Amino acid sequence: MYKINENYLKLPGSYLFSTIGKKVAEFTAANPDKKIIRLGIGDVTLPLAPVVVDRLHTAVDEMGVKDTFKGYAPDLGYDFLREAIALHDFKARGVDISIDEIFISDGAKSDSGNIGDIFDVDNKIAVCDPVYPVYVDTNVMAGRTGEYNADLGKWSKVIYMPCTAENNFAPELPKETPDIIYLCFPNNPTGSTIKKAELQKWVDYALKSGAVIIYDAAYEAYITEDDVPHSIYECDGAKACAIEIRSFSKNAGFTGTRLGFTVVPKELKSGDIMLNSLWARRHGTKFNGAPYIIQAAGSAIYTEEGKKQTKDMVAYYMQNAKIIREGLTDAGYLVSGGVNAPYIWLKTPDKMTSWEFFDYLLNEVNIVGTPGSGFGPSGEGYFRLTAFGTYENTLEAMDRIKKL
Ligand code: MLT
Repeated sequence: MYKINENYLKLPGSYLFSTIGKKVAEFTAANPDKKIIRLGIGDVTLPLAPVVVDRLHTAVDEMGVKDTFKGYAPDLGYDFLREAIALHDFKARGVDISIDEIFISDGAKSDSGNIGDIFDVDNKIAVCDPVYPVYVDTNVMAGRTGEYNADLGKWSKVIYMPCTAENNFAPELPKETPDIIYLCFPNNPTGSTIKKAELQKWVDYALKSGAVIIYDAAYEAYITEDDVPHSIYECDGAKACAIEIRSFSKNAGFTGTRLGFTVVPKELKSGDIMLNSLWARRHGTKFNGAPYIIQAAGSAIYTEEGKKQTKDMVAYYMQNAKIIREGLTDAGYLVSGGVNAPYIWLKTPDKMTSWEFFDYLLNEVNIVGTPGSGFGPSGEGYFRLTAFGTYENTLEAMDRIKKL
């Protein structure tokens, strides 16, 4: 008789956003007349930029003509897209990344989950707490996290780095040495970020301790302040200790179109073994490439017009972030995030738990947010709202909250 991967049975409950989706669906079924405002999952609401839509159309036409039709995409990505990324995302910021260090994928979520494939199951991971649940859950599936303590909401073999108001939502270097460190800046869920000098400390620590950093920079387009790094490779030595994951979802609205990439520098080695070769092997074996039409559409964001149009999209969401920050502050909430990130992190009022506040907002004012405790034990007593709603709904949501 075959055996299943029993690590899956260790996972408590369902994926955070599936649980929320289910709760909201139940509420809607029971209250069909209520207009719900969704500020929960970080899903975009603006349509794709016109340059992207135009390129999609021409790419579809190319697929319908014998001479320009494309079959399987190169499994590491089309050169035209990797070249644009190397030039505009890295060289423009003084970072030298070659195209064979860039691996195109269908998004940052898959890459941040799949990257664990190239590491031994005995590695010890360190995560921020609260944290994007994919990092932990995929390590649970791989059998890397030990046993779950439901009272603490923690896994026995995971090093948790609390990020709370006390440390300004920035993790401190862990006391126990990890092998793999997950960092995400600008941060999901807290919306916090760190300056370059701070990130340099992490790079130095990883180099010294022999750890690898998985750096999720999916929200870099939202950085508004100077001295906040857009890429970990802006730090000295990072190419020898860090993998960076990027997404087209948040900067260009590709949540439904799916496109992302991972950078694995050739300098990153375990002994003589280049992680770049391992990831190339994994990618080539398990992935058949993001579709040509999507990669072509993605490349349009690097044109002058594309840069302008996507910058406008980011500005639209950041205007929402400001409305939420100011609205909540006026209503007496303690708020952080929303300055270099599309997420606003607030302290729940009256000692409510995160889920109590979720129910309260849903029932009283029909607003959906994300309970902080869903991101880890240190998220308890916090709540996340996203700036990815429409401008009108964001304004209405703040009106409703102020009247509470
Ligand atoms: C979130 O709401 O945290 C994001 O939408 C998650 C994701 O990008 O997968």
